[in-house]
Amino acid sequence: MLISTSSLVAGSLLPEKLLAKPESINDTAASILTADPSPDLSQAVNLYDIEQLAKARIGKMAYDFIDSGAADEITVKWNRESFDKIRLKPRVLTDVSKLDTSVDLFGEKLPYPILIAPSAYHRIIHPDGEIATAKGARAAQALYVVSSNTTTPIEEIRESSDGPLWFQLYIWDDREKTKELIFKVIENGVTAICVTVDTPINGSRDRQIKSKFALPSDVHAPYLSDRAMARGGKIPQTLKPLTWKDIEWLKSFTKVPVVLKGILNPDDAELAIQSGASGIIVSNHGGRNLDTLPATAEVMPFIADKVKGRVPLLMDGGIRRGTDVVKALAMGANAVLVGRPPCYGLGAGGADGVTKVMNMLRNELEIAMRLCGKPTLKSIDRSVLF
Ligand SMILES: Cc1cc2nc3c(=O)[nH]c(=O)nc-3n(C[C@H](O)[C@H](O)[C@H](O)COP(=O)(O)O)c2cc1C
Repeated sequence: MLISTSSLVAGSLLPEKLLAKPESINDTAASILTADPSPDLSQAVNLYDIEQLAKARIGKMAYDFIDSGAADEITVKWNRESFDKIRLKPRVLTDVSKLDTSVDLFGEKLPYPILIAPSAYHRIIHPDGEIATAKGARAAQALYVVSSNTTTPIEEIRESSDGPLWFQLYIWDDREKTKELIFKVIENGVTAICVTVDTPINGSRDRQIKSKFALPSDVHAPYLSDRAMARGGKIPQTLKPLTWKDIEWLKSFTKVPVVLKGILNPDDAELAIQSGASGIIVSNHGGRNLDTLPATAEVMPFIADKVKGRVPLLMDGGIRRGTDVVKALAMGANAVLVGRPPCYGLGAGGADGVTKVMNMLRNELEIAMRLCGKPTLKSIDRSVLF
């Protein structure tokens, strides 16, 4: 059978019709969806198919915003390749008739260990933005970490869903305003603060610059961090430095767990615990900040060995398959997060697309656990890695 190369895209074999090129975009959020308003999500078999549906539907600027990484995007590539290189070592003839994929994170029981990572500006991906993400997460029983750079206020996100929410924080220069924001999100039912510590400035996002990334005129980010605005690789002299003391300060008044996102060095993992962090997210920001950082799958075992179960350990970066989740858990993660996939789900089908992405990954995780002979998350340890 001959297949035209234009219809063959990483792991995907979708009809040409669904891959129609978007028309031009203009600068309002409502104009972002450029193709079929309701693509047939049922045709998507895996996350790569969802990505192609989103690509056909959202404009180039929004697609590049999601897809791109820093500089030459080498770390983005390594995040995936590292998972692909790890081989699984199954056990046969074990009873896998009943699975338990549930995980307890800071006293909150989740039915499966895959969270929606924080990502900025959802209203440039879909007019319903974070509201659709929250609804989609709720329907998939997934915990959604709302970004500081949300384009929807936390009250509106909360109103739209009673599902579990964490809040990702970029500490503002104005520490009093930061404190008020933390109180506000906790009042709105956020059960953990996830401080991003790997972004004193944004990385060199070459592709975003080339595709002229800008927020449409009717999209606002109410809690936009000052550091996200720091362009050109320089921290403006007016910005206060961020250090470990800020974590101690946060811990001193934050009544919910404080999780540090963006740890890659085992020595920083140790300092995180000493500064009172309740948990750690091993992350290289999806390869969007410092290019040629190692893949998270490479550093994960070293960090797990340092942390030795003292605090919950989460990881993100390149997780696209249920088998990747098994590998992350085997290396010591209690749970994982996915960043780009729910954004593509949102672009492809709003709330339903987000739900579809999370359900697909959950289903793949269950298949992988059964085929590895591992019926519970606890039973997934390094013995499942070849
Ligand atoms: C479009 C997009 C926006 C992001 N915005 C944020 C953000 O506002 N805050 C943050 O801590 N991380 C942000 N991230 C990083 C993610 O939280 C996560 O670390 C990363 O996407 C994981 O890699 P993956 O996309 O390969 O799953 C963003 C990622 C993407 C793709």
